[in-house]
Amino acid sequence: MHHREIPLTLLILMFISTSEEICISRHHITAVEGEPFYLKCCPSSSEHKNKTTTIKWYKNESHGPTELRSGGSPRIILHDYVLEFWPVEMDDSGSYSCRMGNDTQAWKLNVIRRSKNSCFTEKQVISKVVEVKKTLQVPCENNYFQNLANRTSLYKDCEKIDFNFNLNLKKIAEFKDGGYYTCVFFLHHAGKLFNVTKTFNITIIGDHSSIIPALLGPKLTQVKVELGKDTQLNCSALLNEKDVVYWNTWRENGSDPNVHEEEGTRIRTPDGKWLASKTLRIENVNEKNLNFLYNCTVASKGGTDTKSFILLRKEDMADIPGHVFTRGMIVAALISVSIVCLVIMGVIYRVDLALFYRHFTGRDETLTAVVDEIHSLIEKSRRLIIVLSKSYMSNEVRYELESGLHEALVERKIKIILIEFTPVGDFTFLPQSLKLLKSHRVLKWKAEKSLSYNSRFWKNLRYLMPAKTVKPCGDESEVLPVLSQA
Ligand SMILES: *[C@@H]1O[C@H](CO)[C@@H](O)[C@H](O)[C@H]1NC(C)=O
Ligand SMILES: *[C@@H]1O[C@H](CO)[C@@H](O)[C@H](O)[C@H]1NC(C)=O
Ligand SMILES: *[C@@H]1O[C@H](CO)[C@@H](O)[C@H](O)[C@H]1NC(C)=O
Ligand SMILES: *[C@@H]1O[C@H](CO)[C@@H](O)[C@H](O)[C@H]1NC(C)=O
Ligand SMILES: *[C@@H]1O[C@H](CO)[C@@H](O)[C@H](O)[C@H]1NC(C)=O
Ligand SMILES: *[C@@H]1O[C@H](CO)[C@@H](O)[C@H](O)[C@H]1NC(C)=O
Ligand SMILES: *[C@@H]1O[C@H](CO)[C@@H](O)[C@H](O)[C@H]1NC(C)=O
Ligand SMILES: *[C@@H]1O[C@H](CO)[C@@H](O)[C@H](O)[C@H]1NC(C)=O
Ligand SMILES: *[C@@H]1O[C@H](CO)[C@@H](O)[C@H](O)[C@H]1NC(C)=O
Repeated sequence: MHHREIPLTLLILMFISTSEEICISRHHITAVEGEPFYLKCCPSSSEHKNKTTTIKWYKNESHGPTELRSGGSPRIILHDYVLEFWPVEMDDSGSYSCRMGNDTQAWKLNVIRRSKNSCFTEKQVISKVVEVKKTLQVPCENNYFQNLANRTSLYKDCEKIDFNFNLNLKKIAEFKDGGYYTCVFFLHHAGKLFNVTKTFNITIIGDHSSIIPALLGPKLTQVKVELGKDTQLNCSALLNEKDVVYWNTWRENGSDPNVHEEEGTRIRTPDGKWLASKTLRIENVNEKNLNFLYNCTVASKGGTDTKSFILLRKEDMADIPGHVFTRGMIVAALISVSIVCLVIMGVIYRVDLALFYRHFTGRDETLTAVVDEIHSLIEKSRRLIIVLSKSYMSNEVRYELESGLHEALVERKIKIILIEFTPVGDFTFLPQSLKLLKSHRVLKWKAEKSLSYNSRFWKNLRYLMPAKTVKPCGDESEVLPVLSQA
């Protein structure tokens, strides 16, 4: 017996809890025209037990309540506890009631116009105040339409933002996060696309903890002035929202007429405090303004802090004594002369210095990375002779080959001569560009036949090389540099 009762009780409890989540118990309800909208009556517990109870919906017209029936309007759908509008329109404003047995629940519905030039309707925003550095959460939820929504988007001040946190934007609040957050649920119904919006007006406020305000800069500031000129004293302080900064310029005989306190400025710092500045303008500085303490004070609940400014005549400022100045100039001049001498010596004796360096370090000061060398050699060349040979292959050769090819093909400075010592087909790594080389630039090495200096091979090679001005004999290595290497 007991076994059967338990599931039934659970079922009822679950039904009550879910239905109470989304039924509408508020009396005054606002909806935005053009959006899907629903009313759901909250069943009284006695009605649950009576499965046969029928639910009737009424709209209160001027002549009295009219019962709403399914099929009366394609926009209005009734099912049991729920009355749906697809979508709700301005005409739908009025009183609605739902009758369950002897129980009646009534609402006053106010349909408001949709904002034409905004993604949300200002009268329909939920205000939230979040303290800076605390958690900011934008709960994009609609407990009735959410499950029907095919897509949900979030907009901040009507600009779409990406968010992926299970429809909940959650972050540490910064001041720049303040604004209007609009969740838009897109739904398909009867072949049409609808959207339901929910907008939060989020205001970020500074934290309530207060700081001890502090004036920036030293306790006493000396300002050099020229009599007859204007000057400005700038006083800045880091303070709480309610704290004040002011200048104290009073003296026994009243304030000087040429001293004016300017309107201050205040900017909010990222951590919610304020940076306040106030300037004191002194026009046409006279003797009376000198050697007087102009005080700037910041006052807060916790106490005050003061700093002083004093105006000093420019000539009064301690000068560098004459003899110190002269000595300084002489030392400076001597140092400059020695540097110039050293540079000149360096230029004149650079060869000796380099040899001296090599003698002691045993290193060549001109030696850098192999790559640089290859590059500079290639830059000086007019022809690139590539000898394809299997036994001569290393990374350096490959680099040489590739950078030479770059010069030849991209910068078009050098011409390529390809000597096939080994047939091209035997290589796997060859750059594609080599295979496209014009055939007269490819010379095949034919073992015995090519050996003779008068052979076709050498003639072709000399033909492909740039013409050389004939030099007096005796300098053979100059005449045939490539041949001797090959
Ligand atoms: C939502 O639907 C309304 C029409 O009901 C349309 O004017 C508006 O542009 C839609 N909003 C979005 C974000 O698509
Ligand atoms: C259930 O509802 C019907 C019709 O509305 C009514 O006749 C009956 O008395 C109700 N029973 C209970 C237990 O409320
Ligand atoms: C319906 O309207 C009449 C008169 O307009 C009013 O007296 C009555 O209280 C209304 N009923 C509801 C449920 O709003
Ligand atoms: C409804 O009201 C009538 C009389 O007003 C009463 O006899 C009946 O028991 C009530 N039914 C329920 C379910 O409360
Ligand atoms: C949003 O919040 C700010 C600050 O609380 C308020 O000044 C503003 O009027 C609010 N906007 C709307 C549309 O309620
Ligand atoms: C939208 O979602 C509903 C159920 O969530 C589904 O039946 C419908 O086919 C979807 N429509 C589109 C266009 O994706
Ligand atoms: C005064 O000093 C503050 C902080 O150094 C600065 O932000 C501000 O612009 C200054 N105001 C004037 C008028 O110089
Ligand atoms: C104040 O004014 C009186 C008379 O006008 C003058 O004698 C005195 O020196 C002034 N005191 C100061 C501090 O300027
Ligand atoms: C400015 O402050 C100093 C020291 O804090 C004080 O001696 C002086 O009287 C103050 N001057 C004015 C004009 O308040």
